[in-house]
Amino acid sequence: MNTDEIMGLALELAGLSELPADSQIYYPGERIRKILIGLDIGSAELQLAKSLGFDLAIAHHPQGGSASLNFAQVLRTHVRQMVQAGVPLKVAEEAIQERLFEARVGAHMSNYDHVPSIARLLELPFMNIHTPLDELGRRRLAGVAEKADPEMTVMGLVALLKEKLPEFRHAQTEIDIRVGQPQNRIGRTVVSHGAGTNGGYPVAKAYFDHDIDTVIYIHCASSDSKRLREEFAQSGKNLIVTGHIASDSLGINPFIKELEKRGMEVERFSGVIPG
Ligand SMILES: [Fe+2]
Ligand SMILES: [Fe+2]
Repeated sequence: MNTDEIMGLALELAGLSELPADSQIYYPGERIRKILIGLDIGSAELQLAKSLGFDLAIAHHPQGGSASLNFAQVLRTHVRQMVQAGVPLKVAEEAIQERLFEARVGAHMSNYDHVPSIARLLELPFMNIHTPLDELGRRRLAGVAEKADPEMTVMGLVALLKEKLPEFRHAQTEIDIRVGQPQNRIGRTVVSHGAGTNGGYPVAKAYFDHDIDTVIYIHCASSDSKRLREEFAQSGKNLIVTGHIASDSLGINPFIKELEKRGMEVERFSGVIPG
């Protein structure tokens, strides 16, 4: 396969017709057979991939270039997801404004060519695939969580996620009930993932204010978690945080399986845990 075909496969599996702004081929390659795939790949890992004889390094998270510079664009997926769950468009738009600003300023500050320049010097094919793989992971999560009985307890849903999704059993982290009590009923549940990064306090609040009882994030900063806890812990609302490494692996493993079906030899590292 070549790098275009590999990116095309990820898009096809995620049902996306266009390449999301946070995914990029930094250095293209042909006749790929041996692939090293990890959550984060920097300069040292590229050198490692080269010396170990890999034909291609695939990172999950953006590692520079347009994938980092235009990252803010994918945050807009939150708006679509919120509106789909019943949040009014205006509220949804407002909920992502701070994240958009952070992402734009952060990208503008970054050394966006650091890691891609090393791939060019090494002449090592290198790409990152972010949103397409998170979309695969979101579907697996939603397939369990959004179909669960609303009368189920939060504790019950956590157990169900662990039962149905082996990555949660293999991870060294536990699924965290960040807001709410284990005995609470889950009610209406939404999986908020596959939109660049978590929506923090404002996005979870928008869901809670519009009839969603349980929000699932894969990660959430301590400051946002604290605000949500202070505001919603007494109102029967729940925030379940499934864990970054385990949850990113949820989307990466089905992709690896498809690559292997096509004759690729794939090595997991840098936080990709098997399913
Ligand atoms: Fe991810
Ligand atoms: Fe991630």
